[in-house]
Amino acid sequence: MIALTVNGVRQQVNVRPSQRLADVLRDTLQLTGTKIGCNAGDCGACTVQLDGRAVCACITAIGQAQSCEVRTVEGLAETALGAALQNAFQQLGAAQCGICTPGMLMTAYDLLLRIPHPSRLEISDALGGVLCRCTGYQKIIEAIEHCARGDGTLHEGLGYIGERLPKTDGARKTNGKEIFGADGVPTNARWLRLIRSPHHHAQFVFGDLHAFAANNGISTILTAADVPSNGYGIYPTIKDQPVFAVGEVKFRGEAMCALVGERDIVEAIDPQALPITWTVLQPVMGLRDSELAVHCVHKSKPDNILIDGSVIKSAEIAKDSESKAAAHVALRVQTKFVEHAYIEPEAGWAQRVGDRLEIHVTTQTPYMDRDEVAVVMRIPPTDIRIVPTACGGGFGGKLDMSVQPALAVAAWLLPDRPVACVYSRTESMASTTKRHPADITFALSADATGKLLA
Ligand code: FES
Ligand code: FES
Repeated sequence: MIALTVNGVRQQVNVRPSQRLADVLRDTLQLTGTKIGCNAGDCGACTVQLDGRAVCACITAIGQAQSCEVRTVEGLAETALGAALQNAFQQLGAAQCGICTPGMLMTAYDLLLRIPHPSRLEISDALGGVLCRCTGYQKIIEAIEHCARGDGTLHEGLGYIGERLPKTDGARKTNGKEIFGADGVPTNARWLRLIRSPHHHAQFVFGDLHAFAANNGISTILTAADVPSNGYGIYPTIKDQPVFAVGEVKFRGEAMCALVGERDIVEAIDPQALPITWTVLQPVMGLRDSELAVHCVHKSKPDNILIDGSVIKSAEIAKDSESKAAAHVALRVQTKFVEHAYIEPEAGWAQRVGDRLEIHVTTQTPYMDRDEVAVVMRIPPTDIRIVPTACGGGFGGKLDMSVQPALAVAAWLLPDRPVACVYSRTESMASTTKRHPADITFALSADATGKLLA
């Protein structure tokens, strides 16, 4: 039993002392205002006060909180300063998607307790450990400066045209009540954990998965054989991403199967203990490998080209201009993969309701999700209900499906209880689609005055 005070209330929790404070707050005390972005002390989303000091709750063991006072975003309004910060964040537009907002608020609160009148540099420095992917930080800094000046409570306006409006859902984002993908999971949910390829390219054969599940207390292990139509993709006609790979993985992090069962059991399984035999193959590791057609990634695309095309604008003018040009420049530009790195990893939960499916998920596109799940499950879109939770950043990355198809299969086959899946940061970065890298060659011509001709 560990005793601590959380937001002024005495609590006793029966947990292992090594458990993360963030997990105990969220899972045991149901205080989901504390967010988990990285679970590694890097993003600051989990910042809380521990005996008057800001700490990352994800790297603080609950044993360290024995007999301590913890304050989370849910208890911030009990202090005048905390309430002023929440008001300023709301009225000055400092909370956008809101997933970083609890961490930002707790960090700002800590700063103003230590330094009541910080300089802009001190504010920036204090926020350096809390990552925000949406706001650009300026509004957050302005909100903190507003409170530091003691400029008082900002009020919602009178409703005239052109007036600055507070964010409709801003209050929930500043008081910790907003429900993101991992926040509303029913307490009786089974847990789904995807098992992913450790190889960039390999063939694999499963051993006796049924025996492995039975021996380890796992409810079931899902494979491609459980999926009615094993392919999806947001292009209307290209459904080439299997829910579970069939005998061959094409990238490191591709899912081959999913363990479904009690959370502590599926989380404790060492993936290397699963009966899987691998034959590692040569991978395609970038554009150059793909051009050389080291091997063909998809049989329908033997030269590894998804699509080609060109735009030619008045080739004759270009030719003529080139001959008149005083200068020519040829450039080659290369860019890398870009990970969206939204602070909220993919998460959601699903349940079967009669012959319908209900999926609560962090998403930018509930209707696209519905249609994709319908393809995978071979049931009408009208029998699928996607309930979007708050979306902790997306930037296009949450247009694609992540947890949805595997959750749909699991909920359909195990209808007695809901099933949930929350990606880790590593899993999110390994498995989700990225902005594509580019290799671009182009040429420019200009006249003697510097005017571009072609
Ligand atoms: Fe704790 Fe990122 S620092 S979740
Ligand atoms: Fe900061 Fe979205 S508002 S990450």
